[in-house]
Amino acid sequence: MLTKINHIGIAVKSLDDTIPFYRDNLCMEFKGIEEVAEQKVRVAMLEIGESKIELLEPISEESPVAKFIEKNGAGIHHIAYEVADIEAAIAKLLADGTRMIDEKPRNGAHGSLIAFIHPKSSGSVLTELCQAGH
Ligand code: CO
Repeated sequence: MLTKINHIGIAVKSLDDTIPFYRDNLCMEFKGIEEVAEQKVRVAMLEIGESKIELLEPISEESPVAKFIEKNGAGIHHIAYEVADIEAAIAKLLADGTRMIDEKPRNGAHGSLIAFIHPKSSGSVLTELCQAGH
């Protein structure tokens, strides 16, 4: 069902302050910044091999990422696994009794479809399923 780790999401207070470390010090490939309005975040993607680091900067106090930073501070926010067929993956997890935050896929960055598993079902690790965009 899962094909690889697509990305690790990291909550940051400021993309401008954080990107230089990943891009210039760790020499990751910077893929650009995109706003995901649904989540009220700006997202920077940096590539490392087949995986990515997703830096998440809240653009509103209402953003779930703003609430995360308020509670936990900046840091690792979620792990995203790539799936070939997100609808099938969600159906399988629901059939197994897994609690989903998203029972239907929604729009992620770069044309991807995403769905979050509820941390109650995943050992408190916020877990994202991600079907890559085209
Ligand atoms: Co993500």
